[in-house]
Amino acid sequence: MSLKGRDIVAINDLQLDEIEKIMDVAREMVPIAKGEKRSNLLEGKILGSLFLEPSTRTRLSFESAMHRLGGDVITIAGQEGTSLMKGETLADTVRMAEAYSDVIALRHPKEGAARLSSTFVDIPVINSGDGAGQHPTQTLLDLFTIREERGDIGNLSVTLVGDLRYGRTAHSLSLALARFGAEMTFVAPKSIQMPDHIIEDLKEIGATVTLSEDLKDSICSADVTYVTRIQKERFATEEEYYEVAGAYKIDMEILECAQSDMIIMHPLPRVDEIHYEVDTTPHAKYFVQAFNGVPTRMALLYLVLEGCQ
Ligand code: NCD
Repeated sequence: MSLKGRDIVAINDLQLDEIEKIMDVAREMVPIAKGEKRSNLLEGKILGSLFLEPSTRTRLSFESAMHRLGGDVITIAGQEGTSLMKGETLADTVRMAEAYSDVIALRHPKEGAARLSSTFVDIPVINSGDGAGQHPTQTLLDLFTIREERGDIGNLSVTLVGDLRYGRTAHSLSLALARFGAEMTFVAPKSIQMPDHIIEDLKEIGATVTLSEDLKDSICSADVTYVTRIQKERFATEEEYYEVAGAYKIDMEILECAQSDMIIMHPLPRVDEIHYEVDTTPHAKYFVQAFNGVPTRMALLYLVLEGCQ
């Protein structure tokens, strides 16, 4: 098994033992990610960080990961200022990134852009979010967070709530959780429930999935509550967005029946779906989850660039 040279476009591109391996390496990376230990594991390597859609955590944690391992980064943050504005194709843009770097982290507003890009270049392409498609590296850090906080991933009851239709983090995570054997409840207004094609894939894996609109009921029995932002920018019309905006909110009242060790996660950014008073409760794990992006991406960059026996 080697991840060297591999594209990571969808979470199912990785076998379960490969995901476990990434999480094991990520754990070893934590002191380096915190700046407590120095490393030059990726000295001489360059990450091409191509973020053609807004990003805070994913881009910064990829770049921090590369720097922490002694590597270098070249970056595009937003299409403004690039030749895409002059009509250059995505194919030519990623070919240029290949000429100047050793691995590409690509975020793009269109679903399928990462898979397509990977056909134009020989260096690894890591999908860092493709429209309403997938976000496999977010899933790796989500799984790592669940494992670190709960000690296990299977045998858990996970509630995913919010924009499950357009939420690429929820798409990738649910596919992985199903393979680990977790039980899932999807809480969303009908118009933004999990897409049928994902539900079908989950059924094929043999997952136990419940669809619900009742957040309170699901929170009471959840081990993990994974909250997502309703993604205004992905709706066809503002009207459709405002029909579901603010549909679910996590506050102290709704948490009354939660198990004491239930953890709340969120890929962030949050808008209004988790009240700030929740931040100081022991349930809140979304900031440690965001930090976990660094060691997880360090592990992935190391394994796709250097491989490991
Ligand atoms: C998410 C994304 O970009 O898909 N954030 C992230 O990468 N951590 C979620 C979102 O934008 O709501």
